Amino acid sequence: MNSTKIIQGGMGLGVSDWRLARAVSLCKQLGVVSGTALDLIFVRRLQQGDPGGDMRRGLAAFPDAEMAQSILDKYYIPGGKGHVEPYANKAMVGHKLSRSIQELLVVANFVEVFLAKQGHDGLVGINFLHKIQTPIMPSLYGAILAGVDVVIVGAGIPLQIPTIIDNLCRGEVAEFDLYVQGEEGSGGHKLSFDPADVMGDACEVMPKPLFLPIVASATLAMVMVKKCKGQVDGLIIEGPSAGGHNAPPRGKAVFSEEGEPLYGRRDEVDLEQIRRLGLPFWLAGSYGKPEELQKAIDAGASGVQVGTIFAFCEESGLRADIKSDVIKSCHQGRVQIKTDPIASPTGFPFKVISIPDTLSEEEDYTRRHRMCDLGYLREAYELPDGGVGWRCRAENPEHYVKSGGKLEDSVGKKCLCNGLMANIGLAQIRSDAYQELPLVTCGDDLEGIQRLSSLQDPLYTSSDVIDFLLPIS
Ligand SMILES: Cc1cc2nc3c(=O)[nH]c(=O)nc-3n(C[C@H](O)[C@H](O)[C@H](O)COP(=O)(O)O)c2cc1C
Repeated sequence: MNSTKIIQGGMGLGVSDWRLARAVSLCKQLGVVSGTALDLIFVRRLQQGDPGGDMRRGLAAFPDAEMAQSILDKYYIPGGKGHVEPYANKAMVGHKLSRSIQELLVVANFVEVFLAKQGHDGLVGINFLHKIQTPIMPSLYGAILAGVDVVIVGAGIPLQIPTIIDNLCRGEVAEFDLYVQGEEGSGGHKLSFDPADVMGDACEVMPKPLFLPIVASATLAMVMVKKCKGQVDGLIIEGPSAGGHNAPPRGKAVFSEEGEPLYGRRDEVDLEQIRRLGLPFWLAGSYGKPEELQKAIDAGASGVQVGTIFAFCEESGLRADIKSDVIKSCHQGRVQIKTDPIASPTGFPFKVISIPDTLSEEEDYTRRHRMCDLGYLREAYELPDGGVGWRCRAENPEHYVKSGGKLEDSVGKKCLCNGLMANIGLAQIRSDAYQELPLVTCGDDLEGIQRLSSLQDPLYTSSDVIDFLLPIS
């Protein structure tokens, strides 16, 4: 792993799918699947009739054939659902995981990693967002069952993950302290996952994947290395120009005239402190060019993690029309990217590209009836009886406030769950025929895309990206 120069960033939902990760791993770099909402993506692919049969191929390899069959029976629609029919609702993943949800999470993560690992002996990683707490243990287990080589976790302080990985690899019970708003003290609400509950006797000791947290500061890197009970094998250091969510600026929030958070000297990561930690590290955020890769290596990094340039290549899960529109706009100098400090229900800044007929546009955003039916970005809060409730800042503000949320926290929030599903061609259709609209994210630096493509010939592949980044290898 230490000799890997390029990590293809995990991009949710489903942008870094098994096809992209496999294509990158075939080129001997680290291909990474996004583990976010794979349960939902998996069942919607089955409801689309699983064109190509890949989901069924993955299911056929799952060690418990009966479990795989019951999931197939429940969700697979031969020939696919009708174009105007909605996808069937799937239970949201809360703190009490039913057996069927646990099984679905294990199987969906298994299938994605299994498919990414087919036909080569390269490394495959999986990316999780720490903020999405409840599915993480069964998802990790499914990925480990399929032999995932590297686990990458961002969006939070994933101190508990190495111990969870250790336990799951030994087939032992793993626990996760759920973060619950309003809870007195911490550790009051524990999630627990027992691999034997799902796999029974088929539960074996499995090889341990490497663990790389994504951090945005040397302080957090030090916390991870010094406070983790299990092993941290390396670090990904991500700056605020990266696509997707960004860490908020340090100190008092200051905004540009356009309303974007301003980052300053305090947000620059002290690489000397990182080097002193003695772990391999990769730099992320506008490193998708050969000169930037060289700069990273000169600064002591093993390489770079790159997202944006891969997001628009042929094998990524993004809708083909979105890719070609953005690439063409890039060549026409028409792309506008905003670091939106309020759009994401997580409260983290989120990069949004302005595209007609997507949630980036004010009139399309206001036309959508606000509601929460997927629930990955909900926050857990403590109920008066000590139990746990769930609410989303992007849901109907009245409901949010009724469940104790503050109105100001809900202003301008966008439903990332439905928007990001629409980005990959899995948009929900509502009873009034409204189709959920995309919400596209990418990093600030599009120069690599411009150098790899042209207005007349916008297509490029992941192996073109790797040849571009590693010209002399
Ligand atoms: C479309 C898109 C989705 C992303 N989603 C995630 C994600 O789900 N989890 C994560 O840790 N990082 C995510 N990222 C960040 C990438 O993994 C990577 O670190 C980043 O893109 C690197 O910077 P660059 O965009 O300048 O190449 C995303 C980036 C993009 C462009």
